[in-house]
Amino acid sequence: MPVTSQCRICDGIVQEFFDFGRQPLSDAFAEPARAGDNEFFFRLATGICTSCSMVQLMEEVPREEMFHEDYPYLSSGSSFMREHFGKLAERFRTTELTGPDPFIVELGCNDGIMLKALADAGIRHLGVEPSGGVADLAAAKGITVRKDFFEEKVASEIRAEQGPADVIYAANTLCHIPYMGSILRGVVNLLAPKGVFVFEDPYFADIVRRNSFDQIYDEHFFFFTAQSVREMAKLHGLELVDVERIPVHGGEVRYTLALAGARTPSAAVAELIAAEQEQKLTDFATLESFGANVRQIRDDLVSLLRELKDKGHRVVGYGATAKSATVLNFCGIGPDLIEFISDTSSTKQGRVTPGSHIPVKPPTEFAARYPDYAVLFAWNHAEEIMAKEQDFRDAGGRWIQYVPSVHVS
Ligand code: SAM
Ligand code: TMP
Ligand code: ZN
Repeated sequence: MPVTSQCRICDGIVQEFFDFGRQPLSDAFAEPARAGDNEFFFRLATGICTSCSMVQLMEEVPREEMFHEDYPYLSSGSSFMREHFGKLAERFRTTELTGPDPFIVELGCNDGIMLKALADAGIRHLGVEPSGGVADLAAAKGITVRKDFFEEKVASEIRAEQGPADVIYAANTLCHIPYMGSILRGVVNLLAPKGVFVFEDPYFADIVRRNSFDQIYDEHFFFFTAQSVREMAKLHGLELVDVERIPVHGGEVRYTLALAGARTPSAAVAELIAAEQEQKLTDFATLESFGANVRQIRDDLVSLLRELKDKGHRVVGYGATAKSATVLNFCGIGPDLIEFISDTSSTKQGRVTPGSHIPVKPPTEFAARYPDYAVLFAWNHAEEIMAKEQDFRDAGGRWIQYVPSVHVS
């Protein structure tokens, strides 16, 4: 019997294609003394809607469990990402935000990585951010923040208080939100007649192509494609008018939506949809073969780590990413195989990883006594990290990576 659920976009039937089993919250880093106390678990599984083709989780985690005062992800931890968002802010400033009193709203502004430059330039802006700790960091940078979950009601309050938005923007946030109907009704209400709703998220075609199964965790509810986003937009009187492949977080797409008929779609939209059709992304056979690759990666990674341990090598992890929760818990890897994970986030250091309870330590501990091997959980920041950790390589250290397959370099 196929396992199904109801599509959060079109109410159609979602057919399950992969089950990761019982998984913890990916960003729940506990104090060591409290590790395992009341730990929240849910069944992490993915499916595809047989009507609108949206790939999504089969089960939803309540939003307050994930996004709260102690949410530990700090966007500004990567210099590459700071540059990425700085360039986009400049693009918005010189294209969409050139009217008399332009207004931009960002969903999930986190610590203000994108809005900072616009706030500094005196552009009217609002960050909507439910996670209190990171919202405070943005406010401390001079950014106007509303501590809330963006949804239909919040959108209409913003519209009433501040008028329509020329740009509504969300990075690595829209895919986190299962209640998409409320979001898109809010966007339609808040958007100026010629305004744009721009969002960028991990691209499902790249996840399949690179076997990057660790992009699948509690917070990533939807896995977008140009085809599914076009369908989703249509259901709400919006239109997908542009797509842009962006080389961040292992492959993302930046989607631009406008009110239906307000802008002419670029050729890139039809081109990307045609490429997705060629990749047979919605075929069950493609999804099943992705699943088979994921199981192979798990088996290869576990055997490699066991072999290294048997030979007496020291192995640590690098980057206590949300992604690593899926890898560690799906593979059953704990502190017996990985001594600790090095991470720059003050919010994660001194704590243990969710479910697997591996200690998280600052990079100074990594440099104090280099291990023989480091598993690169932050593989999406590989270029930046490998450049800054050249001393580790020079000391004979080796990187272990697991996408698109397990390899040591
Ligand atoms: N935009 C930043 C980036 O790309 O680095 C932060 C991305 S972070 C992975 C996702 C953010 O979305 C979190 O800070 C979370 O609190 C926020 N978030 C979750 N649900 C939201 C909602 N309904 N409205 C606004 N923000 C939300
Ligand atoms: P992300 O892949 O979701 O952006 O998370 C990256 C994690 O890796 C985050 O916890 C910060 C950490 N990190 C480092 O420890 N060192 C680094 O150089 C970078 C870029 C990230
Ligand atoms: Zn659907």
